[in-house]
Amino acid sequence: MHKWIMATLLGVAGLLAVYLLTFNLPEKEEHVAEEQFTVPDTPVDAATAEAFYKSNCMGCHGDQYQGAMGPALANIGSLRSKEEIYKTVLKGKSGGMPSFEGKITEEELINLTNWLAEMK
Ligand code: HEC
Repeated sequence: MHKWIMATLLGVAGLLAVYLLTFNLPEKEEHVAEEQFTVPDTPVDAATAEAFYKSNCMGCHGDQYQGAMGPALANIGSLRSKEEIYKTVLKGKSGGMPSFEGKITEEELINLTNWLAEMK
């Protein structure tokens, strides 16, 4: 009789543990990751970043980063954090900055961000 109750309780505890591990922990980790998001410091490949800039950004930000339809980026590294630059390029901005989500790989975006952040 008691064995049967113990077995049921253990079973319930086991299921609860599995449930918590599967559904709760990863979710919490994701939230933390989002809050503490930082753009990794990778060595800048300037040639790749510049090529991407020329075909995707120059039309609006100028061949000398002086700005045109979009604002100047010549000293963007002193104005904005890397995280702000990353987010702006990924998500766009309401004043006419297009989103590059799906048009740029994570690696390209990190490289482009670190390259822009060096413009001070
Ligand atoms: C269609 C024109 C257009 C293109 C293409 C474009 N931008 Fe922009 N960009 C803008 C405009 C307009 C703004 C200002 C938006 C605002 O403030 O709401 C802006 C804002 C920005 C900002 C924020 C500037 C600041 O002072 O906060 C960054 C960084 C930026 N663009 C980078 C880029 C990069 C990198 C590319 C290419 C991958 C790019 N833009 C392509 C028009 C463009």
